[in-house]
Amino acid sequence: MSQFHPATATSFTRLLDPAVRHDPYPVYAELRRDGPLWLPHMPAAVVTGYEDCARLLREPRLSSERWRFEGAAAGEDAIPWDAPSSFFQPSFLSLDPPDHTRLRGLVARAFGQATVARLAPGIEALVDRLLDRVDEADEFDVMAGLAYPLPVTIICRMLGVPVEDEALFHTWSAGLTRFMEGLAFAAAGRENDLDWLPNLLEMHRYVEELIAVRRTAPEDDLISALIAVEDGGDRLTPDELASTIVLLLVTGHETTVNLIGNGYLALLRNREHLDRLRTEPAMAESVVEETLRYDPPVQMAVRVAAEPIEVGTLPLPRNSLVFLLLGAAHRDPAAHPDPDRFDPTRPEIRHLAFGLGHHYCIGAPLARLQGRLALTRLAQRLVDAELVLDPPPYRENLNLHGPSALHVTCGDVI
Ligand code: HEM
Repeated sequence: MSQFHPATATSFTRLLDPAVRHDPYPVYAELRRDGPLWLPHMPAAVVTGYEDCARLLREPRLSSERWRFEGAAAGEDAIPWDAPSSFFQPSFLSLDPPDHTRLRGLVARAFGQATVARLAPGIEALVDRLLDRVDEADEFDVMAGLAYPLPVTIICRMLGVPVEDEALFHTWSAGLTRFMEGLAFAAAGRENDLDWLPNLLEMHRYVEELIAVRRTAPEDDLISALIAVEDGGDRLTPDELASTIVLLLVTGHETTVNLIGNGYLALLRNREHLDRLRTEPAMAESVVEETLRYDPPVQMAVRVAAEPIEVGTLPLPRNSLVFLLLGAAHRDPAAHPDPDRFDPTRPEIRHLAFGLGHHYCIGAPLARLQGRLALTRLAQRLVDAELVLDPPPYRENLNLHGPSALHVTCGDVI
């Protein structure tokens, strides 16, 4: 196929190099120059242009049921005989209509805007409590001290996970992130190990047990609401319920961490916007949107071609994988003037950070709310914060992109 360029295929492999993890954008620019790229050994296509990614996120011939493709690569042989049954139930993130429509519809009823808006005072209080621990004399790691604990606590509280068990989720969820980049490793011809599997199994076991408790003793939480949710006589089966809760716990946590980390890093590097946010908290909305464009927490969406389709001039056979590189799309100069500049005052901020179409992120309002409150309070309370190390160390993950630690010297804390 003419669109296989060995040099650009090598660029794709370079994305795995830890040395580019903090700044994959120059590699994305190289990939984008040649248009959609074909990786024959997968077979897979890599799509980097904004309009192509936006169109393909809505393309019904591209399936999200990539577990069909992953098959043995997902480590089927390693799954123990006593794995909890919900483990085998794909979450609705990995289903196509009509199964996806049904499950998402049932969950969306319990996960609406109004529920999220009610959380604002609790989120702000938690941000403040976490920032109260900052010691002016010491360095503060914004990831360990705020960006990690905030989303995991909030999603656990929403769902009704007992406070004493929250730490378990932190460990499990961190272990799971490697699972999410399995396909990218495969695309680059590298093995991804299965160290995530025990975490995922334990999480399913725990969630199944918690559901059993809530069935007999419902509380005012999302797990109890999901148990009770019913639409025209339709309900979630026990396995669907558990798999949905695991999905919400993982997606509700690992992504928002990076929104806070990437946003604060961009502000520290662009102090005029940090200073402005301090005095004009209304800026928080555009700071969050520009962070989502400039340095998105989720760098790619993956699909499988359920039918043969064309991406530009690139014909994709049935069953090819399609990597939609959202991080590359957001820096496409055809979509944004001066795309490599972090500028929350842009007249228009467009992005695909939450996807588009059927699978558009169900947690976007929650993530945005947490991002706005966390970044505003950081700007207001850590008035003299200075980055200790630039670039900071990064998470290993290709897809979930952000610093693993973000140390600042604090100076005065308000
Ligand atoms: C879907 C990003 C926060 C729950 C998605 C998708 C993206 C995304 C890109 C689409 C995936 C695809 O099309 O294959 C993000 C980012 C977040 C964030 C960048 C934070 C900044 C959250 C939160 C929750 C959540 C806080 C839940 C509490 C979900 C769920 C889906 C999803 C359940 C699947 C939707 C579906 O398949 O219909 N997210 N997300 N996300 N997200 Fe988020």
